[in-house]
Amino acid sequence: MTASYPNLRMRRARASSWSRALYRESVLTPADLIWPLFVTDGEGVEEPVASLPGVSRWSVDGVAARAKEAVRLGIPCLALFPNTQPGRRSDDGAEALNPDNLMCRAIKAIKDACGNDIGILTDVALDPYTSHGQDGLLDETGYVVNDDTVAVLVDQAINQAQAGADVIAPSDMMDGRVKAIRMALEMGGHHNVQIMSYAAKYASAFYGPFRDAVGSGGLLKGDKRSYQMDPANGEEALREVALDLAEGADSVIVKPGLPYLDIVRRVKERFEVPVFAYQVSGEYAMIEAAAATGAGDRDALVLETLTAFKRAGCSGVLTYHAAHAARLLGA
Ligand code: PBG
Repeated sequence: MTASYPNLRMRRARASSWSRALYRESVLTPADLIWPLFVTDGEGVEEPVASLPGVSRWSVDGVAARAKEAVRLGIPCLALFPNTQPGRRSDDGAEALNPDNLMCRAIKAIKDACGNDIGILTDVALDPYTSHGQDGLLDETGYVVNDDTVAVLVDQAINQAQAGADVIAPSDMMDGRVKAIRMALEMGGHHNVQIMSYAAKYASAFYGPFRDAVGSGGLLKGDKRSYQMDPANGEEALREVALDLAEGADSVIVKPGLPYLDIVRRVKERFEVPVFAYQVSGEYAMIEAAAATGAGDRDALVLETLTAFKRAGCSGVLTYHAAHAARLLGA
């Protein structure tokens, strides 16, 4: 043995699978996953979303069946997104306040099917309901106005809570909405309805397939940069998170996911609160495209990316691969 021989061989711990298991720092389980589902009208309907291979819009009955599947797979929570009929979209997104809208019907069907065995997260933002595809109300110049939008979002959140939503997830990026929604939930007796705020949501090019799925993509004029964050910014994400926590958020979401793992890490280290990441539609589509061309192995890409979120500090991940990942994990 020479003096230069390594005392410490890092490869020793990697030499066998039992040892790799023993040294593994982050563990992904089905309980880390939140499964986003798209809801559409009708009965017995499954509509594949072209830009999201393997993802469909389901009618309410199908959503309830997916919920039962999720319970069997050990997935603790669903996120719901409606594809509102064109005739029910309007400038002011009033359909968001209809107690019998798709979202509310889906919530009730899931609760009927699964009771409290699964949590239901509902997105608060007007884009699935507006004829212009923006998340809020527009003034005459097309600017998304803040405070009037917040007033509508509060009513939207209460509508969802009354239908049985467990987790309100404001994804609109208006200022002050978390505080306003928390106050309204308390006043309405919804003390245990959580707020998981999309605190750091970026104006991202990764949302394209989602907008197809909810049918807002073709309607959207312009972009969302006057309210969603500039992808160049990190400090600003910390300020957003600080505000949402001060306003009463129980947990926060960073969105998109993989390109923003540094933000996840900084938020976790600074605030020590539950942080979630949204592996968004464009990220899902990239993995599927890589798998389709043979550039990568789907299952390996899914597990590696989801584990990376855990390593970065996430409590959980919203992912369209949730059911598939749960099955890969042996559920
Ligand atoms: C709506 C909303 C969006 C997503 C979730 N909620 C789109 C957007 O902000 O334009 C994107 C999710 C995804 O791409 O998977 N406010």
